[in-house]
Formats: sequence, structure tokens, C-alpha cells
Amino acid sequence: MIDKTAGLERKHPPVATGGREEIRNPLRFFVWLTETYGDVVQYRSSVEPAYLVNHPDYVQHVLQTNGQNYNKNTYLNKYIVESLTGQGLLTSENPLWREQRRLIQPAFHRRSLPAFAGLMTDATCRTIDRLRATPPGETVDIAREMMRLTLDIVTSALFGYDITGRADEVGTAMDTMVSIGKPRHRKVKEAIDLVDGIVYEIIDERRAHPERQRDDLLTMLLNARYDDGTAMPDKLVRDEVMTLLIAGHETTANTLGWTWYLLAQYPEVVARLEAEVDTLRGAAPAIADFPRLVYTDRVIQEAMRLYPSAWSISRRALADDEIGGYHIPAGSIVAMSPYTTHRHPAFWPDPERFDPDRFTPERVAARPRFAYFPFGGGARQCIGNYFAQMESLIIIPTIVQHFRLQPRWTEPIEGHALVTLRARGGVPVALEKRL
Ligand code: HEM
Repeated sequence: MIDKTAGLERKHPPVATGGREEIRNPLRFFVWLTETYGDVVQYRSSVEPAYLVNHPDYVQHVLQTNGQNYNKNTYLNKYIVESLTGQGLLTSENPLWREQRRLIQPAFHRRSLPAFAGLMTDATCRTIDRLRATPPGETVDIAREMMRLTLDIVTSALFGYDITGRADEVGTAMDTMVSIGKPRHRKVKEAIDLVDGIVYEIIDERRAHPERQRDDLLTMLLNARYDDGTAMPDKLVRDEVMTLLIAGHETTANTLGWTWYLLAQYPEVVARLEAEVDTLRGAAPAIADFPRLVYTDRVIQEAMRLYPSAWSISRRALADDEIGGYHIPAGSIVAMSPYTTHRHPAFWPDPERFDPDRFTPERVAARPRFAYFPFGGGARQCIGNYFAQMESLIIIPTIVQHFRLQPRWTEPIEGHALVTLRARGGVPVALEKRL
């Protein structure tokens, strides 16, 4: 469509007219939009008019090349995420965001990560012990187990031993916050109060006893100093803690849950994975082993291709823009979906097939950078990507060493697109002991 107002020829993208019934299932709606309209389409979401861009080059344009023209002032961020995480890294804008990111980034740098390896291994061993104690033949929801495990890891990374004994309380509260997703709901408010209470109690205790040496993310937040020498206010420490709790466990848990779902359907992939893991000869995977776990890493990447936990990423345009030759007016919402771009037929032949060999270095190099963006991209790229990779490279091999998972579902498991992409109804499996 051409619009000649203002004397300029503006080309508008197609406007989606159908799919109303799909809006209740936003994931299916996005798939339908891209299959019907291609790389750029305008649609009316339940909240405001918006565009979905699907081509990797357009995603790159919004997240990276012209990233400064977009902010995170979207309904999801302002009304849902921010009510839980306040001014934390996920939702804050410049200049606050830049300062916070600069202070927090070093703790998540690849170099800093060995500090977390021990607690990741310990938490995984606790899960293995629990799984080994389940009666033979019993059905286990492995997605739920992964949720418990990654929460255990992120709370230990944040608070060290101070959280021992309260992790389940925090877990239940986090689950309430994320699954209800309505900030004003009484149960959500109670859950926020509970976690706030625990977080402030630990902060007070730390401030009262600075002599007790700790080595966790909370210590890093409390000791960080801005250029003028001041410390982070307690409210902001609380916001960053809540952000890391929320951003840091469910995303990784879903990735692992979907990985087990896919593996249980592809015995030939499991065979290659087991062969690689067995080169560890039963020892817990250490950082020094990571370069050997090449196939394991590809399995995880391919699972994140098919089931990217952050299934939708959106921005608001500050000024008019042009994407793929189409006019995007200032103020528009521009949505991108790793779920749909990761199935783009021009870059992913036979897209529904689970094939970890898509991630050989040659095949990665042959694709545009943004054909695959499970961690987003540009300045606001996930700060926890190496943390998550390291968790997966410890958890998957350790579980593969001990068990082979047999599917116990009767129907294919659907994605449930909340803020993150969960497996609807969980991932029921039976555990066959290998060790
Ligand atoms: C497989 C696991 C994970 C996935 C798929 C994932 C995905 C993402 C994505 C897509 C974004 C960008 C959102 C946007 O651009 O709007 C993001 C941001 C973020 N993630 Fe992750 N994430 C994962 C794990 C983690 C972990 C383990 C942590 C921390 C412990 C974490 C902390 C964050 C934070 C703080 C941000 C905001 C960064 C900023 O804007 O500066 N994430 N994540």
C-alpha cells in the first residue's frame, strides 16, 4: 500500500486481517502471521497496533544496527515485568541502564564464571540424588525438576548459604508471580512481599556484618561503586536481585525441559550424546571438559532454536523508521519472535526437525547472525548467556551419565507462551538408570 501524504511515497506493510481466534494463543498467532504475510506484517494486538518482523536482517536492524531508535517501553515490560523487577536491568532505560549494566556485567563475563561452577555441580548432584530416590517406573515431570534446579542455582549464586532452607518458599513465590502474570492480583502481591522480605533481610544482615567474607552476586551488588564513589541504593539492589531471579531461572529451566522432550524422541541423537558424555568416564563435567562437549552444546543450541524460552522480544520505535522498505511510524511496537525466525524456511531447511548438526561451525557461518537469537542481540543482549550455557553444559551431561529418559506423554507437548515458553503440562518421563 502506498501513502502519498506528506509528499513522500511511503510503503506500508500488509495488515493482518484474520487470526482473531489465534490471539488467545499468541504463539500460534505469530506462526500464522509469518506463514501468511512473510517478513514484515502489521497486526492489531490486544493492546495496540504493532508490527512483527521476521527476517534476520530486519531483526538485526531493530536490535542492533538501529537499536538506539528503540526502547523497551512496551506493555509487557511496563505493566508486567516492571511491577516485579522495578528498575532492574531487564526494563530500565538510559542513563540508568548503562550504569547498571557496566557495574553488573563483569560478574557475568566468561572469565568470572568459574566461580559458579562448584555451586552448579552441587545443585545438580542434589537433583540427581532426588531423582535416584524415585521408585522405578514412576513418572517424573522433568520440566518441573529443571525449574527447581535452576532456581536452586540462581539463588545460591545470588545469596550463597544465606538462602538455604528458604529456596522452596522463594520458588513457590516466583512461580506464582510468573504464572499469574497479573501484577495487581492478591497472590502476586503476597509473593512479591515474601521475596522482598527475604531479600531485604539478607541485605540488612550483610550490611550489619560486612566483615563476613562472601563471594556471591549479592556481595558484588553491595560492593559495586558508581564513578562518584557511591553505592547502589538498597531499592535498586533489590530490583537487580529480583531481575536476576526472574530472568535467570525460568528461561534456563524451560530450555532444559524442552531439551529432554526433544531428546526422548530422537534416540540417534541420544546415542551420540551418550558417547560424548561417556568420555568423561563418570566424572562430573568440569569447565576444562567443555571444549570436548561439542555435541552436547549443539544439542542445547538446537533445542533453543525450536523452543526459544524468550519466544517474543519487543521494542517501541522512538522515531519513524524504515524496515525492509516499509514505513514504521514513531511510537509503534515492533515485535520479533525467535520462535518464528528460527523456523524461517530460507535459513532453516526442514525447520521442525531436531538436528543438532545445524550448529557445526560451517553451517553457523553460512547463516546471517540474526537467523538465531535465543539471547536477543545488540546492547540489550542477555547478560546471563554464558551463565546459562555453563549450567546446561553441567546439568545435561550429569543427568545423561545417570539416566536415560523415556517419554511418558501420549500427545505431543504444546508450547505454553507466557512471558517465557513453557511446556504445557510439563514433560513427563520415566527414568532408566545408566549408572
Ligand atoms: C537459556 C537461558 C536464557 C535465555 C533464553 C535468555 C534470554 C534473554 C533474552 C532474549 C534477553 C533480551 C530481552 C530483550 O532484548 O528484550 C535477555 C535479557 C536478560 N537476561 Fe537472559 N536469558 C537466559 C538466561 C539468563 C540468566 C541465567 C540470567 C542471569 C542469571 C539472565 C539475565 C538476563 C538479564 C539481566 C537480562 C537484561 C539484560 C539487559 O537488558 O541489559 N538471563 N535474556
